[in-house]
Amino acid sequence: MTPAEAQSKIVQLRAEVVRHDERYHRQAKPEISDFDYDALKLELAKLEERFPQFATKDSPTQRVGDDRVQGFKEVAHRQKMLSLDNTYNETELRAFHARLAKLLGTDDLRYTVEPKIDGLAVSLTYEEGKLVRAVTRGKGDRGDDVTANARTIRTLPHELKGAAPKVVEIRGEIYLTVAEFNRINAERAAAEEELYANPRNLAAGTIKQLDSAEVARRKLEIVLYSMGYCEPEVVDSQAELQKKLKAWGLPVVERYWTVRGIDEAWEKIGELDRLRHDFAYGTDGAVVKLSDFTQQREVGATDKAPRWAIAYKFKPDTARTRLRAITIQVGKTGILSPVAELDPVLLAGSTISRATLHNEDEIRRKDIRVGDLVEIEKAGEVIPAVLQSFPDERPAGAPVFDLFAVVGGHCPVCGGKIARVEVAAEDAEGVAWKCQNYDCSAQRAGRLGFFCSRRALAIDGVGGVVAAKLVELDHVKDPPDLYDVTLETLATLNLGTAEEPRVFGEKNATKIVAAREAARSLPLEKWLYALSVPDVGETTARELGRRHRTFADLADSALLHAVLKKAGLGAQREWEAPASRKNPAKSDEDKARRKELCARLDAEIAALDAGPLAGVPADIGPAVAASTLEFFAGKPGQRLLAKLRKLGIDPQGTVATTGVFTGKTLVITGTLPSLKRDEAEQKILAAGGKVSGSVSKKTSYVLAGDEAGSKLDKAKELGVPVIAEAEFLRMLG
Ligand code: IVH
Repeated sequence: MTPAEAQSKIVQLRAEVVRHDERYHRQAKPEISDFDYDALKLELAKLEERFPQFATKDSPTQRVGDDRVQGFKEVAHRQKMLSLDNTYNETELRAFHARLAKLLGTDDLRYTVEPKIDGLAVSLTYEEGKLVRAVTRGKGDRGDDVTANARTIRTLPHELKGAAPKVVEIRGEIYLTVAEFNRINAERAAAEEELYANPRNLAAGTIKQLDSAEVARRKLEIVLYSMGYCEPEVVDSQAELQKKLKAWGLPVVERYWTVRGIDEAWEKIGELDRLRHDFAYGTDGAVVKLSDFTQQREVGATDKAPRWAIAYKFKPDTARTRLRAITIQVGKTGILSPVAELDPVLLAGSTISRATLHNEDEIRRKDIRVGDLVEIEKAGEVIPAVLQSFPDERPAGAPVFDLFAVVGGHCPVCGGKIARVEVAAEDAEGVAWKCQNYDCSAQRAGRLGFFCSRRALAIDGVGGVVAAKLVELDHVKDPPDLYDVTLETLATLNLGTAEEPRVFGEKNATKIVAAREAARSLPLEKWLYALSVPDVGETTARELGRRHRTFADLADSALLHAVLKKAGLGAQREWEAPASRKNPAKSDEDKARRKELCARLDAEIAALDAGPLAGVPADIGPAVAASTLEFFAGKPGQRLLAKLRKLGIDPQGTVATTGVFTGKTLVITGTLPSLKRDEAEQKILAAGGKVSGSVSKKTSYVLAGDEAGSKLDKAKELGVPVIAEAEFLRMLG
């Protein structure tokens, strides 16, 4: 392709992407699937990479993957971002109106009634019509600069349409649609990761991520509704502002009302409550704003909130229904979790017939029994939960829930043995029942779905239903068996029933075949994560993948053996300590002998720390080491490795055996001018070196950037050579 051809293709692709953005968001009439949209964007990105002379800052690709943020900078708002006072009933709302009428000397007041969006407040600054900054509310006077992440929001224009003021702060809310929230949670469920409770939490967690490419994958949305500082002033009422925001091409609320007097406001609040469940975002109330800006200024604000606006909060959505049954689901690790099967009931705009019951302990604590009348809640929470039961209305003889008895002491899917195990979730520790059969079809299907999930091998198209079908029909036992399933088998896979067939289709099948071929060349860390080794999560897999060359290397890892050895020495050290309480010294002689022994053990531990364990993070602890070595020595692991060999799949770790840093240990400190810490670390590992968190005499180099602190001092004190990024890059050649 000649540069001229590339340029014209780039221009054409950009226009196409922009057109699809427009159709997707503003007209809500997408022409192409997300998959195809992403492909289009990828093609554009690749061309821009090959022909950097045509890359521009305003290309749609720059809304993705702009990961220049290194931690978040704090930025002051030109005008403070205030909060809102809340009311929960009509009387309080009328009192708000009475206060304003008194202050302004008239009760003929105009208001806007708007949805109160349950998202994350953000302030955008446009200068001469160009988006220059996006900042979270923070503490009101200053917030976090999240510009790079906000730029990934497809509906957010980088430029205002028409005439724009010199500087304007526009405020609104970042949110996630329920559909996107469900998509992300389904992905996390497949990965058996903890689910986000509601779209707001997920949106907040997303905008604070440091990796903008990851942010771009989660499709955030935004809606704007108010103004901060504006120079020169361009509107003089909230009603006008709403129109102006729209004219500037900004996404605005679906519905708002301009009303006269509080009676009309109250009526529209009722209307909003009926309509709001159809909105794209979650709403937890109405915001009533005095419309006229002169009047707004006249009544002013307290430290916390304006006097001219108030939030009327809707009651949380709850409903009562009958608990018909408690069914048991089996996940990829074999954990049995209870699910409430309910008489269908309408709640927050959708019909609910299932709800989470978390775990057996919670069911007992809340005394929930089958047959009970229960209250379920969906207060912004998209996964409905059972709140409580009403024991007074309980049918006679309803037994206390006993999971073991319900499943008859066996896995409800495969009939295998179950056992009590400790589980560690992010927010709670507890015990659960676990199916002990690695070959249980529920576990197999769970592992296959996980293997194909985005964060693992990204073989799109093999979700829960397809995975379960492939396992049910015995096409797949272990995830890598997916490589043996022919295109034809995939294409003709019936996901429906014999009476109502739903065939997977050639197009979907072709995509899977292409994706599984692409996955062959993914690095060891991805494959390791994808194979569901017990205790090996994403971070651990990454750390292990960077420290081993191949699966064979990992299966008999010297590093993991060293971790176990150190743990053993540590335990022995504790037992033999002369002051050990559990094992007190018997005599002075014994004490002296043990002192000597401990000194030897300390030296051995120190040698491991300086040698094979230098720079090994805490993620790789004895539990991980034991479970990884056991897994690969055991039947399931051996079976997987044999299968991969047969398929000719041999994922490579990012570590190099020889390079400029072979045998060297480096410490990184401060902020480097162009490399992120992670990138520098990768480069060191790839050049055969080790990275450590602390400086000692054994450190070969300290790679120091701006604002390096105590580590730099320590290096100087110990005479360890200090290098800057430029020199580091030169050494790497
Ligand atoms: S106006 C000076 N309008 O709710 C206050 N805020 O609980 C200007 N919010 O801080 C805010 N929807 O983050 C306004 N239609 C709406 C809103 C809204 C949601 C948020 C906003 C505010 C918080 C207070």
